[in-house]
Amino acid sequence: MVKAQTRAAELRRLISEANHRYHVLDAPTVSDGEYDGWVRELQAIEAEHPELVTPDSPTQRVGAPPSTQFAEVEHLQPMLSLANARTDDEFWAWVERLRRLLDGEPFQLVTEPKIDGLAISLLYERGSFVRGATRGDGVIGEDVTANLRTVRSIPLSLPDDAGPLPALVEVRGEVYLPLQGFARVNEEQVAAGARPFMNPRNSAAGSLRQKDPAVTARRPLALWAYAIGASDGLGVESHWDALAWLRDHHFPVSPDVRLHDDPAEALAACHGWEARRADLPFDVDGAVVKVSSYEQQRRLGSVGRDPRWAVAFKVPPTTALTTLERIGLNVGRTGAMNPYAVLEPVNVGGVTVSMATLHNEDDIRRKDIREGDRVIIQRAGDVIPQVVGPAPEQPGRRGEPWSMPDRCPVCDHPVVRAEGEARHYCSNRACPSRGYEGLRHFVSRGAMDVDGVGEKLVRKLMEVGLVARPQDFYRLTAADLLALDGFQERSAEKAIEAIETSKRQPFGRVLFALGIPHVGSVTAQALADGFGSMEALRAATAEEIAEVEGVGSVIAEQVAGWFVDEEHSSVVDALTEAGLTMTGPKRAQAPTGPLAGKTFVVTGTLEGFSREGIAEHLTGLGARVTNSVSAGTDYLLAGAGGGSKRAKAEQLGVPVISEAELADLAAGG
Ligand code: IVH
Repeated sequence: MVKAQTRAAELRRLISEANHRYHVLDAPTVSDGEYDGWVRELQAIEAEHPELVTPDSPTQRVGAPPSTQFAEVEHLQPMLSLANARTDDEFWAWVERLRRLLDGEPFQLVTEPKIDGLAISLLYERGSFVRGATRGDGVIGEDVTANLRTVRSIPLSLPDDAGPLPALVEVRGEVYLPLQGFARVNEEQVAAGARPFMNPRNSAAGSLRQKDPAVTARRPLALWAYAIGASDGLGVESHWDALAWLRDHHFPVSPDVRLHDDPAEALAACHGWEARRADLPFDVDGAVVKVSSYEQQRRLGSVGRDPRWAVAFKVPPTTALTTLERIGLNVGRTGAMNPYAVLEPVNVGGVTVSMATLHNEDDIRRKDIREGDRVIIQRAGDVIPQVVGPAPEQPGRRGEPWSMPDRCPVCDHPVVRAEGEARHYCSNRACPSRGYEGLRHFVSRGAMDVDGVGEKLVRKLMEVGLVARPQDFYRLTAADLLALDGFQERSAEKAIEAIETSKRQPFGRVLFALGIPHVGSVTAQALADGFGSMEALRAATAEEIAEVEGVGSVIAEQVAGWFVDEEHSSVVDALTEAGLTMTGPKRAQAPTGPLAGKTFVVTGTLEGFSREGIAEHLTGLGARVTNSVSAGTDYLLAGAGGGSKRAKAEQLGVPVISEAELADLAAGG
């Protein structure tokens, strides 16, 4: 019996240690087999000696029966909320107030991510997890202990090798779903015929409030610990020390928390979070800045629910609700019908979105997206916006389920669906949207005007597989052509030269050459004059495009919809890469300033600017900012990191400059 008890204790320690290494440190040291062996051995001991089972045993992560209701719990200390700072000025106003209230005494600030999840409180008595609760209204929360036990990164018992354990400690943190988990949970929701969750926060909340802990256990929930609440016998005197204590006691603490003596540094760290957001595997809605010293925190106190010693530096959310006005159709180069969403313009993560992809008819029907619906839009990084699904609540009567039209919107021929494929196609092999027509148009007189590359040659190049997309012309070599019938060395070289020369065709022609439906040479020139660059046109909403003189709203929508198609987007990228002219004089207002006419690409993490911040700064100086390095790039502004663009710039001989060098340039150096 004593032997069993000792062994059980040892196994629990081994299992928690392995758990911590696997789920918190992401550095496992034992094999799955070894770990499973320990769990089975512990289960066997506990089966034989039920009196040895403790609630904090790793065998108890899943095991509680479903409950019908969550009990109410009163928090030992209220769980506060956070005031927001949305701009630098608001941040500085907060700092000024701290300085005033602390009579000019120095203070340290801690910056940390503001994770978009659900606040929870975890109570430990003598190192054992005894109760977990949601924030609720801050005073009363719900007891979700059984569900929280299933979250692998929450320690059930604390290690005692870092000093004596306090009689009581309340750990606070955010339970969240990593983005991948969010996508997976939503797929499962849709497959089960349920509505998808609006954002990772809602899905985390939904997962944590499951009546059956076994359901919660299947959701990949994770924790970031960010504070200590009530405690007895802890002896920690600052927030920074509290974070260290949490880490030492196996709680997951963000590796990116920082301590600052200078508030300007803290603000720069907040901007850093803004810029890195798209690369993170979880959603953040900004950064939190906290005064570290507990003594100073006490002196500063709170206004209502918001402590004066903390502030949330917010960034706009990456999901938003809007109305799906219509479902439009794009016909791709292969004749594929690609539906897209025409949206009431909405700001998502700082960018106005009016179009989104919809993939195919099956996907639209499975998600049950209908014209006129309120829909959830998601934008992650630079990716084309997605329609996640209809919002949980619809304002009025919904429209009919959507279906693919019978006829091609470009040539009016019947639309067919290939066996076993989700995609629909235009049945007309000569549909103007198709490859051959498009390629012939691309090299034609009024477009790229490639001398010596006519109808017959285009057909031949397609047949032998040398050219399938416009960018393929720019990869051809004289040797490729010589291998074809009817070419002599001289004629092959001349053709290649003509292709090379076409790179100098002005931007308006390139735009026309793309063959965007309804964009003839005049419209193309008007768009080129109005936007001045492919980047600007591509980023424009249908409404902005319609503001160009001579471009109506129907064509504007077609143009915006064309760029939403990933295939089209990749053609534009490849042509930019090939060095075609993607900018031209903007007739409406030509830029002025020390960097007028210069094209910049930015890469890596900058010290003094966020991504949006630097773009604004550069355009303010008259420069144009594009995404990829090409022969047309004047400078690559590089911060820390940013490998591939740097390599590309070096390869093309584009000067790579630092922030300091930019300042010199801007000053006329
Ligand atoms: S501190 C000062 N730190 O934001 C006490 N909260 O808007 C407030 N949150 O309810 C909590 N990340 O759910 C704190 N690093 C972080 C946070 C964080 C996310 C959430 C938390 C809180 C809400 C307040």
